[in-house]
This record gives sequence, C-alpha cells and structure tokens, in this order.
Amino acid sequence: MPYPASTSLATPLATPLATTAPVSLPLPAAPADSAGVDSEMIQVARLLWPGPQSVEPVAGGLFNRVLKVSSPAGTHYLKRFTEVALSGDFPPLPTRAAQRCLVACSWHDLASRACVMPPPAQPPGQPPRQAAIRQPTARPLTVPALIAIQSEYDIVAMDAAAGAPLHERLTSGPGDKAVDAAALELPLRSIARWLGRLHALPLQPRNALLAASRPFKAFKIELQYVRLLDELPPRLHRAARAFIDDYLALEAEPVHGDLNSRNLLVDADHRVSVIDFEQGHFGEGSYDLAYLLSEYAIRALNHDRDPLPIVARAWDHYGSTRLPADPSAWQRRLHLHLAFQCLYRLVGPTRAVWTGHLDEPAGRRVRDWSLGMLERLL
Ligand SMILES: Nc1ncnc2c1ncn2[C@@H]1O[C@H](COP(=O)(O)OP(=O)(O)OP(=O)(O)O)[C@@H](O)[C@H]1O
Ligand SMILES: [Mg+2]
Repeated sequence: MPYPASTSLATPLATPLATTAPVSLPLPAAPADSAGVDSEMIQVARLLWPGPQSVEPVAGGLFNRVLKVSSPAGTHYLKRFTEVALSGDFPPLPTRAAQRCLVACSWHDLASRACVMPPPAQPPGQPPRQAAIRQPTARPLTVPALIAIQSEYDIVAMDAAAGAPLHERLTSGPGDKAVDAAALELPLRSIARWLGRLHALPLQPRNALLAASRPFKAFKIELQYVRLLDELPPRLHRAARAFIDDYLALEAEPVHGDLNSRNLLVDADHRVSVIDFEQGHFGEGSYDLAYLLSEYAIRALNHDRDPLPIVARAWDHYGSTRLPADPSAWQRRLHLHLAFQCLYRLVGPTRAVWTGHLDEPAGRRVRDWSLGMLERLL
C-alpha cells in the first residue's frame, strides 16, 4: 500500500538518501533464510548506507523482523512488518503489514514532533525575545530519526537509539533511594512530560490512520483487558466491561500504544529514547502513562513499597505539559488502566518478561493491589 502524500516526516534527515519517498527495489518478495536474514532488507541496507556492512538480526516481535546494520555511516536499524508470524502457529494479526507500517511511520513522526518543546510563554505586554523563540529548547527525550520508508516491502529504516532498555533498571534489585531517584525517576519525568505533549498533538490524515489502527486497538484491548475479566469478582464485571467499552470508543488522543520499558532506551546520563510505534492508536493519554507506570508499580510492590507516590509524581510531570480538561476524571481512569495493566503483566501471556522475577508473596501483593484498586474505583 503506498503511503499517502500527506505523510510528513519532521525528523532531520541523516544521509543524502534519507527520504520519505519509497526506495524502489527491482526484485520480487522472497522469504528470509533460516538465519532470519531477509534479502530485501539487505538490499534496502545496501541502497541506504555505504559498504562494508555487517548485519545482525535482532530478536524481536512475532510479526516483524529487525536488522541492525553497521556501516561506515554508523549503526542503523531496519524493521520489516510481516503478514504471518515468524515462528509458532499464531493466527494472523487483525491489520495488514502495510497498515502496521503506515501506523509505525505516522506515530514515529508524531513522537519526534513531541520532542520539540514549545518556547516559554511571553509575559503579556512585553516584546517577544527573538533569541529565545528561535532557539529550540534542549530535548530531554529523543526519538531516533526515521530515515526511509520502503512501502513496497513494509520496511522502515531509522537511526540507532543510544542506551539500554529501561526494563533492566526496573527489574534490578532494590537500589538505595538516591540511586533509584536518578536511575528511575529522571527517565520517568522526561517520559511523562513528553507524553503530555504527544497526546495533545494533531495526527493526520485522521480517518485513514483510524482505519489502519482501530482493529489492532480492539485486538489488544481484548487481550489486555477483556480476557482479565475472569480474574475479577463477578460483581465487578459489568462496571469493568463499561470501562473497557468506553476506552474502545475514546479516540480523541494519539497514544504510543506499547510504552513498555523495552521500548524505552536510557543512556548513562539518563536520557531516554523511544522506539517501536506500530501499536499506535487513538485512545486516551492515561492508557500510555498507565502502561509504563504498571512496571513502576510492580517494582514498588516487589520491594514492598506503596506504588501511589510515584504514580502521583508521574501525574504531576504529565500535568506540567498538559492539563486534561477534567483532572480528577482523568486520574480515576489512569488508576483503572493501571490496575488492569498490573494484573495483565501478572497473568497475561508475556508474564515471564514483566513479573517472572517476582516471588510468590510479591506476585500476591501485585494481584491484591490491582484488585483492590478495581474494587474501589469501578
Ligand atoms: N532504532 C533503534 N535503536 C536501537 N535499538 C533498536 C532500534 N530499533 C530496534 N531496536 C532494538 O531491537 C529490538 C526490537 O525492536 P522493536 O522493539 O522495534 O521490535 P518488537 O518487535 O516490538 O520487539 P519487542 O517485542 O521486543 O518489543 C528493540 O527492543 C531494541 O533492542
Ligand atoms: Mg519493542
């Protein structure tokens, strides 16, 4: 599927070949070889970057291939969206590879735009400070530049993001308070502020992007929320279902959709880069903030601490860039998303990644805390 001409990439272009125009390849599609090396991805790499190149398949999702390419031009990543699962016997996803590619590029561009902070507001009656307005403020969070889109094969090319997954910090042993404050709170602060800007940005062409992302949203909410209903006492089912249905109907704000700590890379100076945008959809911002906070809450509960203080601090950071129209309703929904998502990380199909390091009493604390929150708020 060709990309609409209105798809624009605001990210600075890194090489002369860096273009939003599709790279044209002469060969028909061919499957990857047994080592997972995909011949079209190799061709795209050769078109984009000088030799000699070394390529390394990166273990990743079921419905995409990721290739790390090292060349004299530096390190870059290629990601290709596929129609069928690369291993196992999984049914196809509800959206085509081309739709996920379109979503990934559009949300990637949006995420880059949210990195640019607006200039400080001028006090009324004073002349504008030209220098302050022209100078972009420092970026506390980055998104690797999107370099090219090969729409014929659903391949995107991007810069490498620096750092290691935030997941490593969140699953490490209990640090002393000062270490935790820097290693965990500084990234959370920049992510929450960036999210506030992201959720307020317009994303176009809205109808085409709604059509490309809505089926995946429904698929994901079925997996993450609807299937959890069995974990809840029957008296909560009706209210829980209403909360879920509301989320499916809410389409005001563009959200990242998969803001877990493996998609957030943090460098030694605690600077964060965000990747992996193909689960972007239109929903409500509290969904994204809860997505990440569920991991912070699980860490707190694992170390027998109250999760609510860090949730409150994250909300303050979010609110410093974007105050929702009804803050108390927003916070209620944040806590409900959080409770569902903590439970999902405990019982969902990928639980080993998120809560596999917890012992039995810690797992029970996560369950009790989540169910208690649902009981109070539903
Ligand atoms: N631009 C990038 N810079 C640095 N690392 C990257 C980049 N893109 C991908 N990676 C690495 O490749 C991994 C897989 O990429 P990505 O998250 O986009 O795919 P995924 O299918 O969603 O994988 P997962 O299911 O692990 O989230 C990432 O966790 C990261 O380690
Ligand atoms: Mg990922």
